[in-house]
Amino acid sequence: MAEYDYDVLIIGAGPGGYVAAIRAAQLGLKTACAEGRETLGGTCLNVGCIPSKAMLHASEYFDAAANGTMADMGIDVAPKLNLDKMHGQRLDAVDGLTKGIEFLFKKNKVDWKKGYATFQDAHTVKVGDETVTAKDIVIATGSSVTQLPGVEVDNSKHVVVDSTGALELPKVPKKMVVIGGGVIGLELGSVWNRLGADVTCIEFLDEILPGMDGDVRKESRKIFSKQGIEFKLSTKVTGVSVKGKKATLTLEPAAGGDAETMEADCVLVSIGRRPNTDGLGLDAIGLETNQRGQIEIDHDFRTSVDNVWAVGDCVPGLMLAHKAEDEGIAVAENIAGETGIVNHDVIPSVVYTWPEIAGVGLTTEQAIEKMGDKAKVKVGKFPMMANSRAKTNHEPDGFVKVIAEAESDRVLGVWAIASVAGTMIAEAGIAMEFGATSEDIAYTCHAHPTHSEAVKEAAMAVQGKPIHM
Ligand code: FAD
Ligand code: NAI
Repeated sequence: MAEYDYDVLIIGAGPGGYVAAIRAAQLGLKTACAEGRETLGGTCLNVGCIPSKAMLHASEYFDAAANGTMADMGIDVAPKLNLDKMHGQRLDAVDGLTKGIEFLFKKNKVDWKKGYATFQDAHTVKVGDETVTAKDIVIATGSSVTQLPGVEVDNSKHVVVDSTGALELPKVPKKMVVIGGGVIGLELGSVWNRLGADVTCIEFLDEILPGMDGDVRKESRKIFSKQGIEFKLSTKVTGVSVKGKKATLTLEPAAGGDAETMEADCVLVSIGRRPNTDGLGLDAIGLETNQRGQIEIDHDFRTSVDNVWAVGDCVPGLMLAHKAEDEGIAVAENIAGETGIVNHDVIPSVVYTWPEIAGVGLTTEQAIEKMGDKAKVKVGKFPMMANSRAKTNHEPDGFVKVIAEAESDRVLGVWAIASVAGTMIAEAGIAMEFGATSEDIAYTCHAHPTHSEAVKEAAMAVQGKPIHM
């Protein structure tokens, strides 16, 4: 009889966990995956990437019809919102994709253990009433919404909500306040702004989208302001009280000062996410989390406990689905004795607003800091206004920026604001993975007319020689 029930047990079936499980099974390992939710796919498929994109995509069409973009192209329409139907297509997308993972589990012979897993020892977990043993265990328990002290979220009342509640609002709020000018605040704030809400975004820092390139942060705020989102920067929310269907927020300057109040029909709390490690029984295996509640890992995704590994949102690094997926593949390969590697320096980030905002590698500020001298960094920038396809499509906003090391010309980072920036950034990722110079991109033939020509032109601009500007 085998020493363990399984070669590998994965805890959590989000993009980190389900991908790890499938790759482990592909590599011939007997694999099980424990998931506490009713459906597979984790945050991403159930209440994250997919439902948010369903609402963003649908509301983009509504906005194009309502704001005159369609009329500008000779299509006169008077859109009427059917919000129930819009939610219906969101739920269809979630249902289809989560069932798709169930199908992939069956196809690859991954056993789904239904319930929340708790460690008994480093090779044993309890899932509900069942005890499961495995030679190797991967923690892929993801993350949950960070709470704001003094603010109680109750998604069922639709007044003070987190991202899950903001995806499901049964009617368009008249006045919505978004706490946090990060990715969730801007994506979901955009959805409801497009559908008719009056949206104010309150950000603690002096600019939105922390972690992104400085130019991109400034320019995107200008674009969102033009779209009607109001920003209150350097401001903190100190409390929210609810009376019936109305919320009253108390705000203060971040640096301290006089408080003011603001009323809203809906408040979205989107100030970040924190790793899910409570209830996992980490004490039973002597595994401690760091100050941010994350599980520390080495280059191979090993924790400090033998045969226990971790990937995705519960470990340090960007909290992104594609990062979790790549880590899931790599950890399974390492467990199988192969060499699984993720290059964390080349992970794209995309904000799926209109236009999209995307970047990979270093920001200008990080590049200058790393090189220690502004003169050691060269930047080429090309406006989407000068890109023939964007201009023809009535999508003039944004730019592409290529950041290169001056001496070697090696690309250090690429940033873009463009209608399809999320798709455009993939070529920058490949270029950087292969150690490309800006000249390599500039001399690569790009199809015409495409938005991607702006990447080529920005690369040409690094040498000061763009053609169409
Ligand atoms: P998760 O997806 O969080 O999955 C972890 C799973 O583990 C969960 O299903 C949970 O139920 C389960 N679990 C936890 N504890 C246990 C336990 N003890 N036993 C059993 N199961 C357990 N990222 C992008 O890249 N692109 C996007 O467009 C994007 N949009 C997003 C939009 C929103 C509104 C949100 C909230 C997030 C978004 N993200 C996006 C982030 C993305 O969802 C996460 O980075 C990603 O889901 C992380 O994957 P994961 O596998 O680490 O964890
Ligand atoms: P975030 O970290 O992106 O942004 C949070 C924002 O809130 C920051 O700008 C921060 O300065 C601000 N903030 C913090 N405390 C505040 C306070 N008290 N008052 C006002 N502002 C405050 O977090 P967010 O938007 O909640 O998203 C969580 C994570 O989910 C992201 O980090 C991202 O990894 C992931 N995500 C990714 C998406 C994508 O890839 N398109 C989409 C949505 C989420």
